[in-house]
Amino acid sequence: MEVKKKKSFQEKMEQNILGLIIMVAIVVSIGGIVEIVPLYYLDNTIEKLSKEEDSIRPYTALEQEGRDVYIREGCYLCHSQMIRPFRDEKERYGHYSLAAESKYDHPFQWGSKRTGPDLARVGGKYSNAWQRQHMRAPRSLVPESVMPNYAFFEDHIIDDSLTEKKLRALAMVGVPYSEADFAGAAAAVHGKTEMDAIIAYLQVLGTMVNFEKGKDYRE
Ligand code: HEC
Repeated sequence: MEVKKKKSFQEKMEQNILGLIIMVAIVVSIGGIVEIVPLYYLDNTIEKLSKEEDSIRPYTALEQEGRDVYIREGCYLCHSQMIRPFRDEKERYGHYSLAAESKYDHPFQWGSKRTGPDLARVGGKYSNAWQRQHMRAPRSLVPESVMPNYAFFEDHIIDDSLTEKKLRALAMVGVPYSEADFAGAAAAVHGKTEMDAIIAYLQVLGTMVNFEKGKDYRE
């Protein structure tokens, strides 16, 4: 005699497409609510920095041009710029990233792929000369590196006719550039190469908050 096995809830759902759709919708909504609702109860999702710490400023014209090279070349496909609040990350890269640190980044470069190391605090880690040599030929300094050579940055002069427009576009989305910044933009990058710009950008990453003077968020 055939024994009739009682169908479990899961089996029923797997055989009933409408039921499955409804259950998936319910589960996804719960996930969404848990993530979205708390945001309505926070005054601000960016931590307030104390006066001594808060030296976050918009990028200079040259740093901004370097950032554009970074985006154009897709450096973010191999490098993140977001140190997570885990012990191993803090020991390797330094203080975890604060939301305020990327408040003038449009678009931010947090990334999600780490073929190479995180760059959120790479500013000041090496000399400009090291950065230049590493960009030209990464394997001359780190033999096992898989990073591409970017020697051609030295042959590309930045188009200074666009710099002011770029700063103005960023001002439209809330970056507090002044009239003096616009007026001086072209001169600030005139004759500079993409190599100069990318190094200026890398050297400022993660250096704007003065953690020593303020409270330690690590605790
Ligand atoms: C194919 C992946 C890849 C791409 C694309 C890439 N990198 Fe890298 N990068 C690496 C790897 C791997 C390392 C670690 C080995 C080394 O130092 O060369 C690294 C290291 C670095 C370092 C040194 C970091 C440290 O803390 O030692 C810097 C700075 C850097 N890359 C900048 C850049 C910039 C700027 C670009 C874009 C112009 C870029 N990288 C594109 C893979 C990549």
